[in-house]
Parts: sequence; C-alpha cells; structure tokens
Amino acid sequence: MTDSLLALLKHYGQTQLWQFADQLTPERRDNLRQQIEAIDFPQLTNLVAGNDKAVDWHAVAAAASPPPAVRLGQPDTHYSISDARQAGVQALRDGQVAMLLVAGGQGTRLGFDLPKGMFPIGPVSGRSLFQMLCDRLSAMSRRYGADIPLYIMTSPATDAATRDYFAKEDRCGLNADQLHFFCQGQMPAVDSANGHVLLAAKDEVALSPDGHGGIVAALKKSGSLDDARQRGVKLFYYAQIDNPLAELCDPALIGYHLLAHSELTTQVVRKRFAKEKVGNVVSIDGKVQIIEYSDLPDDIAQQTTPDGDLRLWAGNIAIHVFDLAFLEKVANQADSGLPFHRASKKVPHVDDQGQLVSPTEPNATKFERFVFDLLPMANNALVVESDAARVFAPVKNADGAAVDTPELAKAAILKLHRNWLEAAGARIDEGVRVEIHPGWALDELEVQEKIHGDLHLTTDTFLM
Ligand code: UD1
Repeated sequence: MTDSLLALLKHYGQTQLWQFADQLTPERRDNLRQQIEAIDFPQLTNLVAGNDKAVDWHAVAAAASPPPAVRLGQPDTHYSISDARQAGVQALRDGQVAMLLVAGGQGTRLGFDLPKGMFPIGPVSGRSLFQMLCDRLSAMSRRYGADIPLYIMTSPATDAATRDYFAKEDRCGLNADQLHFFCQGQMPAVDSANGHVLLAAKDEVALSPDGHGGIVAALKKSGSLDDARQRGVKLFYYAQIDNPLAELCDPALIGYHLLAHSELTTQVVRKRFAKEKVGNVVSIDGKVQIIEYSDLPDDIAQQTTPDGDLRLWAGNIAIHVFDLAFLEKVANQADSGLPFHRASKKVPHVDDQGQLVSPTEPNATKFERFVFDLLPMANNALVVESDAARVFAPVKNADGAAVDTPELAKAAILKLHRNWLEAAGARIDEGVRVEIHPGWALDELEVQEKIHGDLHLTTDTFLM
C-alpha cells in the first residue's frame, strides 16, 4: 500500500508529501494517505505545467463588447416585463424553482471568523445574512403557495458551523424538507517556485476550497441534482451569501429566462465606476462571458461611450438563473470543462525541516473554478439589468473601508425600505430607521396594501 502510494508520488514528483510519514502515528499517517489519495495528480500536474493555457486577459478584454441585455427602462423588443413576471410567477406556483446559495467562503476580509452567513446585518432587527435570505424565501413560498427548496453550498471550513447554526435557529424558519446542505471540494495549494504541494502540517495537505465553480461537481456528487429533479425543480436561482438585498427568486428574472429559452441568465447592474470590484459581463464572439475585475486591464475598464458612460457597463452581482438540465449536462461532462483561475497567496506550511513557516509574501498558488465561466457554455445566455439600489448591497469589507461594508449595506436596506414606505404615504421622522420583514411586505406593492397612508413612525421600527 505504502509502496504504491510512494510510486505515485514519485511519478508526479511530489514525494515531499510523505517525508514526515515515519514520525506519524499509524492513525495520522492513514489520515494523510487519504488526503493524498483524494488529489487528482494528473489534473494538478497539468495545472502546474500551465498546460491549461495561461489567459492573455488584455487580448480577451480587447475583443470584448458590451453584452446584449434587457436594459432597465428600455422596453425589450421581444418580451414585456409583465409577460416575464407572469411566466416567472407560474414557475414559482408550479414549484419549479429552487434556490442555490453559495456560502463556502469565510468572512476573512470582513474580519469575521464564523461562516459569513452568520454575520448580523439587519439594520434594526440584527438578523443574520442567513436569516434575512431565509425570511424572504419563506415569504415567497407563502405568496406562491409552493415551498422553495434551498440548497446551501458550504465548504469544509464552514460546513459544520453552518449546519449547527441552522439547527440552533430552527432552520431559520424553513421546513426540514426545504433545506439541504452540500459541501464543495478542495484543491491543494502548491509552492509557486516548484509546483510542490504544500503541507499545512506534517500530516496535513494544505487544501483550500475549489472556488464556487466547484458547485457543479458538488451538486452532482451530493445527489442534489437528482433530489431537485425528483421534486419537479426545473430552475435554480443562484445567489451569494454576501448580498442581503438580493431579490431572491425574482419572478421577472425567472420569466425572462424562460421566455428566452435561456440555459443561464444573469442579472447585472450598471457599474458605478470603472474599477469597481465586480466582474464585467461582456460579449466576445457572440458569447456572454465575465471578465473578473482583477483581470480587466485599466485602459479597457476606463473606456467610455460618446455619452460619457462606461463602455463595459455591466457589473456581475452573482445572481444567476440556471436550467437544472443545463447543470446536469455540464456535470456529466468529464471534469465539467470549467477552467481554473490561479491566485498567488500567503499559505502557511511546514518546510523540509518540519518547521512551520508563516510567509510574509505570497509563496503559493491556489486554483479555483468560477461558476460564471459556465456562461459561454450556455445556449441563449441572457443578461438582464436591474437597479443596484434594489438588488445589490454586498458585504465584503469591515466597517471603515470605502466600499462594500456592513454599514453601507445597512444604509442601503434602510433607504430602500424608507422609499417604499414614503411612496405609500407613510411619514417617517428624520433619522428614524425602519426595516421591513419580508413576511410583512415583500415589495413596494405589498407595502401600499399594508399601510393605506396612515403610518407615522417616530422611533426605530422593525415592521414584521
Ligand atoms: C464575486 C465575483 C464578482 C462579483 C462579486 C459580486 C467571483 C470570482 N467574483 O467577487 O465577479 O462582481 O462577487 O458581489 O466570484 N464562495 C464559495 N466557495 C468558494 C469561493 C467563494 O462558496 O470556494 C462564495 C463565498 O461564500 C461568497 C461568494 O462565493 O459568497 C463570492 O466569493 P468572493 O471570493 O467573496 O468573491 P468576490 O471577490 O467578492
């Protein structure tokens, strides 16, 4: 057994992984063996050699044009928004829509060491990101008379804590049958200098999540695709855990997707400034594609139209609608076909002397897949613009940063809810903070039905 493992490691030039095996107890050695056996060495060797092609982002971006899109305020020539809404509502009533939430990341940038979904964000209620998203799903399920199942992707770093949290919080109000967890895979980190897989400890490979693109393999491996199909689900509405304003299961977006016979539809907002940290949704050779903010060259990001607007205007807010059949098709292809992206990171590891090293400069390469790389593979991929003030309040950085902080997200929620209430005739004293629970009202129309213009709020209020 050890002989064949050693032969494998030798073959792939990775014998350093077994260099401390003699110092380990049989149990820890066995643990290490299992981690090594889980590595796809042919794939990794290919990645280290760069045979999966290094992308020339300048050339890619130079070929990019703005994507064809259903634009806000511009009547679409093919489908009206009311037709779209109607089609979406029908799909929701028929129980054809499930929610897919990616929650594998940790709140590192946020300075929060629990799963990010547990971060309190309700400006008055203090509800967590998880709770806010589940409250909306419950309200949507009630409105359309069909439970919307929620599939949450965790990572090894967040899985146990996420499950514990939902158990303690009564599944955030969802039915037991509505809630599913599945865990994404991992990739080894390699030494950037020589491609050697790093050891996090003498008996532990340095592993990290394989990116949200790992969702394709993880959905299949966990049986979630089969589970969804058995329930009659036809579409997945996809969102990230870090956006408390995400308009989960928006009927209009679902409807556009259906009417356009799209396999993958993405909701975008107009970028606020050229180097905003959002992916850029573009069209290249007739295919919709996303160029991540870190890959878009400055000169191209800054190009403007004769009107002074950004030429590449469409910002990715990571809200997508997937056909279940499309995900099944991709998941059944060998290795899903999704490319890997590389990131240079500081990865603590043990050196050849068995000493723990905490690098001060990036020393390692991590490999991640991005879910949005499915866009160019999809038939009739569709782009639909929405208003950032309604749908996008990302929580990425700790308070004090210039953008994407909890404080700014809370302010965006309060502003939206105040606008709905004031438009319906409510009076809210200056400085008073009002947050609306989706069970009270899901949108401005429900707010109008609720208050008939006779509401005056003088202190902070959570309408529920
Ligand atoms: C991401 C998008 C960016 C988009 C922005 C919108 C990528 C690569 N970039 O940027 O185009 O404009 O969101 O807010 O996605 N996650 C996992 N597993 C992983 C990695 C991430 O579940 O292995 C989840 C995280 O929990 C998080 C989300 O994916 O909810 C986004 O990941 P993050 O790395 O924070 O992406 P951003 O740089 O914020």
